[in-house]
Amino acid sequence: MTQDELKRAVAAAAIEDIKPLLGRDTIIGVGTGSTANFFVDLLAEHKHDFQGAVASSDATAERLRGHGIDVFELNHVGTVPVYVDGADEIDAHFNMIKGGGAALTREKIVAACAERFVCIADASKRVDVLGGFPLPIEVIPMARSYVAREMVKLGITPVYRDGVVTDNGNQILDGYECLFEDPKAMEQRLNNIVGVVTNGLFAQRGADVLLLGTENGVERYTP
Ligand code: A5P
Repeated sequence: MTQDELKRAVAAAAIEDIKPLLGRDTIIGVGTGSTANFFVDLLAEHKHDFQGAVASSDATAERLRGHGIDVFELNHVGTVPVYVDGADEIDAHFNMIKGGGAALTREKIVAACAERFVCIADASKRVDVLGGFPLPIEVIPMARSYVAREMVKLGITPVYRDGVVTDNGNQILDGYECLFEDPKAMEQRLNNIVGVVTNGLFAQRGADVLLLGTENGVERYTP
């Protein structure tokens, strides 16, 4: 199977996973990226079975609306029963690196407001230790150099993602050459750097369900 076929298969599995939660008043959280896009496209086939969605990016909001799915402000919704999103990497403890698409801040906010985080990923995303994928960090633009120097002190090599502006008007530093043996502790340390808006370690709030697309089919894991 191609990677896209695996992504579509996990997206289809996620639809089955969340079906029991769908109802006239249900508003679901929807992530960002190519795997989440497959999910949105399949979700559209069920658009009359739920009320709408909260989106983790402008791009996802646009895609949802394009399918005729109502998009709600998180502040008006409060919590969502489920958030479905992809990941750049996920480990055995359901810690993740996210933000390859620069949407990490809104993703982390919607995830924080979700009762359940369903991670949909093809098998290439499953790793033993996080850090092979560069760690995205969203920063306030004027703090970029300062944050970069603080990252170096933590053993992370920062690279400015030139030309990228997030939906929140900020910039991204990608962190290279560091494996995260203790992602919760590193997430906290990075959060403590002034000027960091969000870091792409999703460990304090990891996934609750992993749907992993493999050559043998979709495998479902819970902690
Ligand atoms: C977006 O900022 C990311 O967190 C995505 O969720 C992540 O990069 C996975 O994207 P793909 O599904 O495109 O691999």
